[in-house]
Parts: sequence; C-alpha cells; structure tokens
Amino acid sequence: MTQTVLLAGATGMLGGRIARHLLDRPDARLRLLVRGGAAAGRRAALGRLLDRGAEVVEGDLADRASLDRATRGIDVIVSAVQGGPDVIVDGQVVLAEAGKRNGARRILPSDFALDLFEATPGEHAMFDMRRTADERIAATGLEHVHVLQGAFMEMFGPGMGTFDHDAGVVSFWGDGTRPIETTSVEDTARMAARVALDRGAASGKFAFAGDRVSILDATRVVEARTGRRFERRSLGSEADLRAAMAEAASDRSNPFKAVMLAYQLYMLNGQTALSDLQNHRYPDVELEGFARFAARALPRAPA
Ligand SMILES: NC(=O)c1ccc[n+]([C@@H]2O[C@H](COP(=O)([O-])OP(=O)(O)OC[C@H]3O[C@@H](n4cnc5c(N)ncnc54)[C@H](OP(=O)(O)O)[C@@H]3O)[C@@H](O)[C@H]2O)c1
Repeated sequence: MTQTVLLAGATGMLGGRIARHLLDRPDARLRLLVRGGAAAGRRAALGRLLDRGAEVVEGDLADRASLDRATRGIDVIVSAVQGGPDVIVDGQVVLAEAGKRNGARRILPSDFALDLFEATPGEHAMFDMRRTADERIAATGLEHVHVLQGAFMEMFGPGMGTFDHDAGVVSFWGDGTRPIETTSVEDTARMAARVALDRGAASGKFAFAGDRVSILDATRVVEARTGRRFERRSLGSEADLRAAMAEAASDRSNPFKAVMLAYQLYMLNGQTALSDLQNHRYPDVELEGFARFAARALPRAPA
C-alpha cells in the first residue's frame, strides 16, 4: 500500500539523500517541505527530485499555517532539519502537532546520532535539544521512530577535524581505542527511507551501524587506502577533555567548539554507544563497512 511521506530538510545534506531513496521505493509518494528563502543552489538540487515525481509545499517550521497545508493527506513525516532550539525543538514539535491534527501516523524526528537518550542532561547541547523535542513529540501520540546510526563516516574524511589530511595528523582524546558506531550518510538515508515506510517498526529507537571502529582502527584503514602515514596525537584524558569543555562553555565567541567537544566526550567514554542494532532488518540492504567507505571516498595511494 502506497504511503505519502512529507520530508522536511530535502535541501540539506542528509535530507536530499533520504528524498532520493524514498523516490526509489515503489510504495512511497513524496512531498517536500521547502522554505521559500532556501538558497538558490540548494533549491536547484530539488529540480531532480521534482523530475522524479516529488511534490513541493512551500513552508517553514516557524509557520504553523504552512505546516497544516504540508501535512494534509500525509501518512509519515520524516524530518532531516538542522538548526537551533527554534528549529529542532519548537519547529519539530509544531510539525508533529500539525501532523497529528491532520491524520499523519508517524514521525521520524531529526535525530541521526549516537544514542542521545543516554546522554547526561547539560553535557551535550545538540543531544539535549533532540531529547527535549523527542519527549514532546512522543506526547503528541504520533508513532515516533528515532533513527540512530552513530557518527557519519564522512566525519573521518578530509577537512572534518579528526584527520588532518594536509598535516598528516590524526587527533583524538584518550588513547583512541574506544570503538564507536559509524555509518555512511548514504546508508543512513537508505535505512531512514526504509524504516519510514516499515509499518512493523515500533515507536522508539531504531539503531544500526555500518561499522564499529576506534580512531586507531580507522587510522590504519585510512593509511592503507591513502598510502600516507598519520601521526597519532592524543589531546589528553577524559578529565582534560572535560576541562576543555568547561572552558569552551564560558567562551561565548565560539559556541561550535563546545558542541564539538561534547561529541568527542561521548565518542571517548562510550556512554551513548548504540545497542540493539537492527542492521539486518531489511535483507536487501547491506551496510557499508569503514574499509569499503574509505575505498570509495578517500583518495587511493599512489601506485
Ligand atoms: N551523526 C553525525 O555524524 C551527523 C553529522 C551531520 C549531521 N547529522 C544530523 O543529520 C541531520 C541533518 O543534518 P544535515 O547536515 O543534513 O543538515 P543541513 O545540510 O544543514 O540541512 C538542514 C535542512 O533543514 C532545513 N531547515 C532548517 N530550518 C528550517 C525551517 N525553519 N523550516 C524548514 N526547513 C528548515 C534546511 O532548509 P534550507 O535549505 O531552507 O536552509 C535544510 O534543508 C541533523 O539531525 C544533524 O544533526 C548527524
């Protein structure tokens, strides 16, 4: 039976991919909630989705009337938005409420993380926002499925902080041996599209991971692929990291730093590790491991 999905965030990195995977499904119709003010380049990417049959409703999570228009006739809402509390908490809750009012059955909020429900309140602003939103979304009575896939594998790529490919340095807190769950953006989108339409998926966490690798494991894979040797550089212990977090929290000039350190904390101490992985729920989906990701995404070692 065909289900109609409303996707918020289709102009974004993850949302655009979820849209493609939903359009690949014969049992889905797709409607996109798109802001009028979306950057021209981002809107241009929508053209390909429209050519494949997606419908657009112009709207904004800050505009309740637009959410009523967008959610009419919708079965499932998928949110892949990004932003501050106005978007992640207030916006997503208003979206869920509109969905409930207009007969939607289910929502997948924009979680896409490690197990943010295991985080200590006050330690990780991004996880706190999502947990707050998720509690309020659950209270609407909609089915609510939380897609949790760990860190995107792309976070280990060039320009993403952990690996400095120019300087040949990999930096991490602790000793680099704690394995964390990681999944490519593409596989996350593929699984999100499947679980959105999966009537048997229960409310609650839906966790999966393409791989479980430590930073040192990942370094060996990156070295084998690129033919480069990376200097391993520990930035300090968990106590040092917590001291850096406290300092960053009082530095209003760069809020991004505190957020990045909070992600590092949970990668180091394993508190938000994923459990009950549902990697094999869809037998035709084979999640890419880190070595295969590196072979696809990183430059090959010179011959
Ligand atoms: N686990 C990981 O390693 C990891 C890494 C990165 C991201 N993520 C998660 O993945 C999710 C998506 O992130 P992303 O990087 O793909 O985001 P992104 O590229 O920044 O895209 C955000 C999307 O949200 C839309 N949006 C923002 N505010 C909106 C509003 N008020 N009304 C309607 N739409 C709005 C944007 O539309 P416009 O085009 O109009 O701005 C855009 O389509 C987030 O939950 C993020 O935390 C996880």
